[in-house]
Amino acid sequence: MNVLLIGSGGREHALAWKLAASPMLTKLYAAPGNPGIAREAELVALDIADHAAVASFCLEKKIDLVVVGPEAPLVAGIADDLRTAGIKVFGPSKAAAQLEGSKGFTKDLCARHNIPTAAFGRFTAAEAAKAYVRDRGAPIVVKADGLAAGKGVTVAMTEAEALAAIDDCFSGAFGSAGAEVVVEEFLDGEEASFFCLCDGTAALPFGTAQDHKRVGDGDTGPNTGGMGAYSPAPVMTPEIVERTMKEIIEPTMRGMAELGTPFSGVLFAGLMITSSGPKLIEYNTRFGDPECQVLMMRLKDDLLVLLQAAADGQLAHMSARWRDDAALTVVMAAKGYPAAPEKGSVIRGLDNAASRGVEIFHAGTAERDGVIIANGGRVLNVTAVAATVTEAQRLAYEAVDRIDWPEGFCRRDIGWQAVKREKA
Ligand code: AMP
Ligand code: GLY
Repeated sequence: MNVLLIGSGGREHALAWKLAASPMLTKLYAAPGNPGIAREAELVALDIADHAAVASFCLEKKIDLVVVGPEAPLVAGIADDLRTAGIKVFGPSKAAAQLEGSKGFTKDLCARHNIPTAAFGRFTAAEAAKAYVRDRGAPIVVKADGLAAGKGVTVAMTEAEALAAIDDCFSGAFGSAGAEVVVEEFLDGEEASFFCLCDGTAALPFGTAQDHKRVGDGDTGPNTGGMGAYSPAPVMTPEIVERTMKEIIEPTMRGMAELGTPFSGVLFAGLMITSSGPKLIEYNTRFGDPECQVLMMRLKDDLLVLLQAAADGQLAHMSARWRDDAALTVVMAAKGYPAAPEKGSVIRGLDNAASRGVEIFHAGTAERDGVIIANGGRVLNVTAVAATVTEAQRLAYEAVDRIDWPEGFCRRDIGWQAVKREKA
């Protein structure tokens, strides 16, 4: 099969690495890709916002499957436009991607189908949102409705903080994403990421992970896209996975089909495991980044076969097998991330740093005169697999320490919850 992978981050490098291992693969292209992805795929300088150009490339190169990594092209309708041109795509339609693109859409779906989630209100004006906050009190959570790259959420511990967040949204801090605001109940518990491959009808559980969203050690500082992750998530016991499928994922699949917008692609549920069971925090309609990196290190089966089955509506009889090992990834970011990452610094020692059980995925790198430089906020994902999280953590940080990049930084405590559990 000829495959085109869309995207340029660490998630896409991990997908490329795993797709490249498939005996079914003839040729892998990636657009726009990055220097790490270039080791697995031929990079194509396509403008992925130009769907007609992507479609004509696919027809010319006889692409059998397009795999879309990030959310922005999905929300922009790339899957619809490629399907219209007769090209097979792994990824949801624009209408189905609303599960990620609009928090209000998802909350309404939850309400209609009794899917457990935080109580909420939707607002298009500040005064009504503020009245809701004053009525409910803190802690309370304020969210910009649209896509805001993980930065549109304020978990307010005081009423004043919540009121200020509402003003921020309506004053345009998140652009059009903040034109509508969701205010919701604060959920107490342990967070986990849960993934399912979906084919419009069937949903196949596809791994669990825990992410570290805050930039600093001890879960301090501003929220980021994710500073590290590990898999599996110990709180996702078989019982909790079963409840999540029954109470959250399956009603969502039915609800989307009833709306005439069946969901195919990867459904990523951000969950809070509360004392009364799993509750949905939010959906994403793509793999997590960096969660995907740890999932790919643990997946035993052929990714290409599974993604193709999802795109073909043939998941019902498929299964996915995982290594018993744990995987852990440490994000190395450019100093200044998340506010203002410095670009252009030189990274050395990458060839030295990888070892048995360790893969270094490129997230935000570029190549200049044969040298790898930082070209984004999150730059490298140092990913290890081992019998325990503790061991995977040790391997990952040993590799981090072999990388010569003074302008980079990382958290030093990725996996701390699981390491603590393993010590107990
Ligand atoms: P989101 O972008 O919706 O995933 O929110 C980002 C982060 O904010 C989540 O990963 C949670 O840590 C936190 N968060 C979001 N909603 C809630 C909630 N209702 N209760 C507690 N924490 C939340
Ligand atoms: N790591 C969280 C996300 O991809 O949204």
